[in-house]
Amino acid sequence: MPGFSADTAVGRRPAAIGPLGLFFREFVRHPVMVGSIIPSSRACIDRTLKAVDWAATKVFVEYGPGVGTFTRVVLERMAPDATLVVIDTNKSFIDYLGQTIHDSRLQRCHGSAAEVGSILAGLGFDHADYILSGLPFSTLPLGVGDAIARETHAALRPGGAFLVYQFNPRVRNFLVPHFLRIDDDMEWMNVPPCKIWTAWKD
Ligand SMILES: C[S@@+](CC[C@H](N)C(=O)[O-])C[C@H]1O[C@@H](n2cnc3c(N)ncnc32)[C@H](O)[C@@H]1O
Repeated sequence: MPGFSADTAVGRRPAAIGPLGLFFREFVRHPVMVGSIIPSSRACIDRTLKAVDWAATKVFVEYGPGVGTFTRVVLERMAPDATLVVIDTNKSFIDYLGQTIHDSRLQRCHGSAAEVGSILAGLGFDHADYILSGLPFSTLPLGVGDAIARETHAALRPGGAFLVYQFNPRVRNFLVPHFLRIDDDMEWMNVPPCKIWTAWKD
């Protein structure tokens, strides 16, 4: 499949640097792509995921998993026969997740969120039930945020939702052209406090 690679291999030596060290190192190397200096808080995770109907979830996609702060919680809550597809442009994060999470429900893809449709098709899925984004939308290259919002709407099943947490309130503007119903929320117990949107595909 062009443009990305899926890798489900597990069991390699765990990354010695640790999650916080890796996250900080990758922020220093790629500040615009990573967009945050520390991972999300537990309060942010719980609030962002509160709308998810786990019993109705067979395919969950996460954009920008980083060191897996949300990934591990999604796997804890997901059914045994569900699949979590994580997509990140940073190969160090994708490799790290393979070294530290040993779960056959996890599919790791090194690629861009804008390719979600072809990534899902390549894995044999025609839609996702939920798509979660920790992407730094406001600092993505021009046009990429719009493309991701459009492709995400196309990839969701009717009734599914795009779950977005971001520090910049203007990120909602990427969602408005594609999603008619958007629930707004806020989590103060995060560094920095973040906006949370649940954008429904009706
Ligand atoms: C702020 S970090 C989020 C990390 C983690 N989800 C958390 O909550 O702590 C943003 C992540 O988005 C990834 N990223 C940036 N642009 C991307 C794109 N176009 N497609 C997929 N991932 C991308 C970065 O490599 C990084 O892992």
